Amino acid sequence: MNVLFKNIKELIQVREEAIDFLSGKEMSILPTIKNAFLLVENGFISDFGVMENCPKIDVKIIDAKGKMMLPSWCDSHTHLVFAGNREDEFVARINGLSYEEIAKNGGGILNSAKKLQETSEADLYKQSKIRLEEIMLLGTGAVEIKSGYGLTVASELKMLRVIKKLKENYPIEIKATFLGAHALPAAYKNNKTGYLKMLIDEILPEIAKENLADFIDIFCETGYFSVEDTQQILKAGKKYGLVGKIHVNQFTAIGGVQTGVEHNVLSVDHLEVMRNEDLEALKNTKTMPVALPACSYFLSIPYTPARKMIDEGLPLALATDYNPGSSPSGNMNFVVATACIKMKMTPEEAINAATINGAYAMNLQDKVGAITKGKLANLILTKKINSYHFIPYSFGNHVIEKVFLKGKEILKS
Ligand code: NIG
Ligand code: FE
Repeated sequence: MNVLFKNIKELIQVREEAIDFLSGKEMSILPTIKNAFLLVENGFISDFGVMENCPKIDVKIIDAKGKMMLPSWCDSHTHLVFAGNREDEFVARINGLSYEEIAKNGGGILNSAKKLQETSEADLYKQSKIRLEEIMLLGTGAVEIKSGYGLTVASELKMLRVIKKLKENYPIEIKATFLGAHALPAAYKNNKTGYLKMLIDEILPEIAKENLADFIDIFCETGYFSVEDTQQILKAGKKYGLVGKIHVNQFTAIGGVQTGVEHNVLSVDHLEVMRNEDLEALKNTKTMPVALPACSYFLSIPYTPARKMIDEGLPLALATDYNPGSSPSGNMNFVVATACIKMKMTPEEAINAATINGAYAMNLQDKVGAITKGKLANLILTKKINSYHFIPYSFGNHVIEKVFLKGKEILKS
């Protein structure tokens, strides 16, 4: 279907030339066109510019007077396929237990794994699609979803098949990540080697056969998986064409960032604890650092030192980490606002981090993340607002009027 948006107060994140990602000072520039038009043809952005050059054609017209338009959010890190919730652990934390203590007592990831193992594939799909529909209405147009709450051959594959089915049934761009190395299940309590062997010898070949994943991930963290485990998993994934994206430096810095860079991972995610050497290791590489401020907010842990990283010339992407334990929200609007409020990113930096840099962290920069001819018409139309600064300023409120994916309006089901 073709649509012509007219009188757009400001068209945001306009990139005439396609770009991969933005680093350092470049992140503070957010190109826009005031009083603009945008033409969508067959689901793609086919033309845009100032209203004086607006084509006079016979297509569906949407008058966007007083409203702003930007590319939909690119959420490069989620675990939105999960079973049940963990609000009991949330209350336990309020009453004094720590996230680590809860995990040690068999809660945390293992709690979610137990729930997921007991849930059928059909039910898991049903629960997950509600979350996917919710984030689409919140303006997300591309999302990465991880496995990692299965922790057995059958349940990891179940998660990945659910992700595949979501991908087939929804207009949002979806990338799948195999995160078998998320936590050590009780059955392998004293046998981490055996668990990793199972992931590599039994699950990976099946993933390749059914084409179930794009990326491979591991939780590289004290008490979870070591740097050596990370090397092993990244190497094994590479054999099957899976690019690395790792959870690293969330609670402790143990050298995982360096390992990630050595293995050319696409992204290193979390980074709440950053030593100077970790920051240095990321300079002049193609690895995207990803901050997850909703996780920091929810767990009351430090925020990724975004200001320092950007000031030192690094790129940065923002994502939600949507999961039942550390970030039970998939709202990118909240993430963008929190990045500005708590991490002192400017609105320009935060919007760049949540669009084009997020697209890069999913290897989707050719399809989404900016207003460029030939990209998918995945678009956010705001309510009537004064400036795009209002988007993070008005935190917790709903500034989005409509979302379009592949040019089609997303409606509440
Ligand atoms: O990204 N850090 C590891 N994994 C998830 C949270 C897992 C959970 O608590 O369920 C994260 O924060
Ligand atoms: Fe995560």
